[in-house]
Amino acid sequence: MNFELTEEQLMIQKAARDFAQHECLPGVIERDEQQKFPAEQISKLADLGFLGMMVDEQYGGAGMDTISYVLAMEEISKVDASVSVCMSVNNSLVCYGLQAFGSEEQKQQYLAPLARGKKDGKLYIGAFMLSEPEAGSDATSQRTTADDKGDYYLLNGTKNWITNGGTASVYLVMAQTDVAKGPKGINTFIVEKNWPGVTVAAKENKLGIRGSDTHTVMFTDVKVPKENRIGADGFGFSFAMKTLAGGRIGIASQALGIAAGAYELAKEYAKTRKAFGTEIMNHQAIAFKLADMHMKIEAARLLCLKAAWEKDQHKDYTISSSMAKLYASETAMWTAIEAVQVHGGYGYVKEYHVERLMRDAKITQIYEGTSEVQRIVISRGILK
Ligand code: CAA
Ligand code: FAD
Repeated sequence: MNFELTEEQLMIQKAARDFAQHECLPGVIERDEQQKFPAEQISKLADLGFLGMMVDEQYGGAGMDTISYVLAMEEISKVDASVSVCMSVNNSLVCYGLQAFGSEEQKQQYLAPLARGKKDGKLYIGAFMLSEPEAGSDATSQRTTADDKGDYYLLNGTKNWITNGGTASVYLVMAQTDVAKGPKGINTFIVEKNWPGVTVAAKENKLGIRGSDTHTVMFTDVKVPKENRIGADGFGFSFAMKTLAGGRIGIASQALGIAAGAYELAKEYAKTRKAFGTEIMNHQAIAFKLADMHMKIEAARLLCLKAAWEKDQHKDYTISSSMAKLYASETAMWTAIEAVQVHGGYGYVKEYHVERLMRDAKITQIYEGTSEVQRIVISRGILK
C-alpha cells in the first residue's frame, strides 16, 4: 500500500491551490452576497483543463486520474464551493457520462467541447437533469416524458434544482419513454438549451453555494433527435445511477474541501485569538475540537481517495463513493459549525469566511443523494 502522491498529482494539487487562492478568493464574499455566477473563474478553470480533467485527451480532456480530480476539488472547495459544484457537475456527471456511455458521434459533437469547457471561444458547459418537483430521492418516479415519434422524441416536463441550469449549453435529461416499464422505461437524452421549447426559470435564491447557478428548466414539445439518446433503449436510469456513483466522489471531495477550509481558518484563529490571558488554542476545549476536526477530515480524505482509486482501477466503487460522500458531508457540516464556534462572534460575520462555509456545507448532505439515500445505497450494497 502506498499513500504517496505522484509528482503529477502533487503538481495538480498545487495548481488548484494556487488557482483557489489567486482566482477564487478575491471577491468570494461579494459573489456569495450578490449570488453572482463565477463566470470568470469557470472560464479560467476551462483554460487550465479542469473542466474535463478525467476525459481522454483524444476528446479534448486532460487525461488525468480521479485522484488528481479529488485533490483539485478539495483545494478549490476550501475557498469557493460555488465554483467547485460547477466543476464537479461538468467533470463527473456530464463529461464522465458521455465518455463512458456516449456514442462516438455524441463524443465528437458534445464531449469534446464540454471537456474543453469552451466552444468558439465561449464558455460551454453541461448540466445533469434527474430531479423533478415530485421526484428527488425517489428518482424512478419521473414524470417528464419523451414520446417516441419515429425520427425523434418529443420531450415534455419539468426538472428542478438544476446546477448550471442557466449557463449550460448542453443538458443530459432523464425522461420516461414507457411508464409501464418502471426504471427500465427511463432514457437519458442530450438536449441543447437553445432548442425550441426549452424554458429556463429564474435562478434560485439559496442558503449556500449562492454563486452557483440553480434553476428549474421546463420542456414543452422539445424535439430530440433519436441519435441524442444515450445508450440502448431503457438504459437511462442505470446511466443516472452509474454516473452518480462517480459524481458522488466529486461532491465528497467538495465536502472534504469545505471541511478542510473551515478547519484551517479555525486553527489559525485559535493560534492568535487570546482569552483569559492566553491564545484560545491553549484551552483544551478548543484544542480538542481542532483535534477532532483534523481526525475526521483525514478519515474523509482517505475515503475520497479510496473511492477515486477504485474508480481508476475499474473496480466497483458504488459503496465507496456513497461512504465517502456520506462521511465527508457530515464532516463538512460538523466542522464548519465548530469552526464558527471557535471564532466566537467573529465567526458570525462575513469577513471571516466560516459562516459562508457553514452555509455551503449544508448542501453536500442533500444533493447527489441525501445522507439518507447514501445509507440506502450502502446498506443495500453490503446486505445483498
Ligand atoms: N448501477 C446500475 N443500475 C442501478 C444502480 C447502479 N448503481 N442502482 C440501481 N440500479 C438499477 C437497479 O438495478 C434497478 O433495476 P431493476 O429494476 O432492473 O433491478 C433500477 O435501477 C431501480 O433501482 P432501485 O430499485 O434500487 O431504485 P429505488 O427506487 O429503490 O431507488 C435510490 C434507489 C438509490 C434511492 C435512487 O433512486 C437514488 O439514488 N436516488 C437519489 C437521486 C439522486 O442522487 N439525485 C441526484 C441528482 S443530481 C444532483 O443532485 C447534482 C447536484 O446536485 C450537483
Ligand atoms: P426528498 O426526496 O423529498 O427528501 C426529503 C427528505 O426525505 C430528505 O431528508 C430525504 O433524505 C428523506 N427521504 C426521502 N426518501 C427517503 C427514504 N426512502 N428513506 C429515508 N429518508 C428518505 N438535481 C439534479 O438532477 N441535478 C442537479 O444539478 C441538481 N443540483 C442541485 C442543486 C441544489 C442547490 C439543490 C438544492 C438540489 C439539486 N439537485 C439537483 C436536486 C437534489 O439532488 C435533490 O434535492 C435531492 O436528491 C433530494 O431530493 P428532494 O429535494 O426532492 O427531497
